Amino acid sequence: MIEGVEAEALARRFGTPLYAYSKALIRARWEELVAAFPAGSLIGYAVKANSNPAILSLLARWGAGAELVSGGELALALKAGFQPPKIVFSGVGKTQAEMRAGIRKGILAFNVESEEELSLLIKTARGMGRRARVSIRVNPAIAISTHPHIATATARSKFGVSPREALRLSLRAARDPSLSFVGLHSHLGSQIFEARPYERESRILADLARTLSSRGIPVKLLDFGGGFGVDESGRRRFPLESVSRVLSRAAGSLSGPARLAVEPGRFLVAESGTLLTRLLYRKETIGRRLLVVDAGMNDFVRPALYGARHAILPARRRPGPRTPVDVAGPVCESADFLARGMRLPPLEPGDVLAILNAGAYGFSMGSNYNSRPRPAEVLVDGREVRLIRRRQSGAELLGCYP
Ligand SMILES: Cc1ncc(COP(=O)(O)O)c(C=O)c1O
Repeated sequence: MIEGVEAEALARRFGTPLYAYSKALIRARWEELVAAFPAGSLIGYAVKANSNPAILSLLARWGAGAELVSGGELALALKAGFQPPKIVFSGVGKTQAEMRAGIRKGILAFNVESEEELSLLIKTARGMGRRARVSIRVNPAIAISTHPHIATATARSKFGVSPREALRLSLRAARDPSLSFVGLHSHLGSQIFEARPYERESRILADLARTLSSRGIPVKLLDFGGGFGVDESGRRRFPLESVSRVLSRAAGSLSGPARLAVEPGRFLVAESGTLLTRLLYRKETIGRRLLVVDAGMNDFVRPALYGARHAILPARRRPGPRTPVDVAGPVCESADFLARGMRLPPLEPGDVLAILNAGAYGFSMGSNYNSRPRPAEVLVDGREVRLIRRRQSGAELLGCYP
């Protein structure tokens, strides 16, 4: 069941592959975050996790802010109703057009990641006769135990600048008449399940903030990024209370207390999403049993890209012993597996399988690889189902070629 609706009925009505989201689960996670952080904190949803406009407007309506990384995400966030004073813009490669769009709308902060970016932002704001608000993104060089692709604050990472460089850039930003200095930002990475890295991060940012305030530059915003882990198979839980305590203490420890900001993406939407796929064929290869399904790595890349182990269930209970099988997609790549060694009961072609916790970095990381159309998405609210993205048609696929 996805809330009050049978997963199999959804697959029948909308076809597969299909992303189905539970509104109640997004709401529950949102309320958990609001309760955990002090009133007035900015909870900026990381739009990249799932940028479906229907989901964005829910979060905007409930009062979330947004963290985004492209002009496209800015346009989507504004259309969904996020207020510019609650929007922060990160990313190592912002273009001048993206800067202009953010300045025009008056967003809360550009999280600036290099000196050259800062120079272009100054030039752009000056040219527009406007002030751009700026936070500096710090790379605190903290290694976390997660997949290397999603560790974003190690010494070798491309994101942010060293604390020393951040101090210099903050001083420059604070003195420039075209900028308004807002604060400091950092993001450790994704799929974190411990409070300790946040403790180290918050200490580094708070120390830097104290140095700045001793030079007469108040830090108004301390943005600690996202990374709140959601276990793909549902075993571990993120220590939200401890992390909130650590971050609140750091933000409150400054002489003029800074506003606390966090940027959770996955935490809000991962559990709400289920990817429904239909079994096409069963086959045996040398020494293993394979199920070939109609969703591939173009629809859901996390298992292939990060080795993520998402739980998979048959949509309808099936009798018989559960034995290990590999679940592969139709894409022409050896990496195109949705699971390996998943224990499943005997299944028949046509059966629907549900890939769990697929609401974050699922559809949003998908592609048209192998010229496969993008899947449909539905939002379930109790017994109500709303199509929130049509399945891409063949004509749409061909439509971009002149
Ligand atoms: C700057 C920044 N903030 C927030 C996030 C959200 O991370 P998560 O979805 O793990 O919370 C990301 C993810 O890449 C990010 O790069």
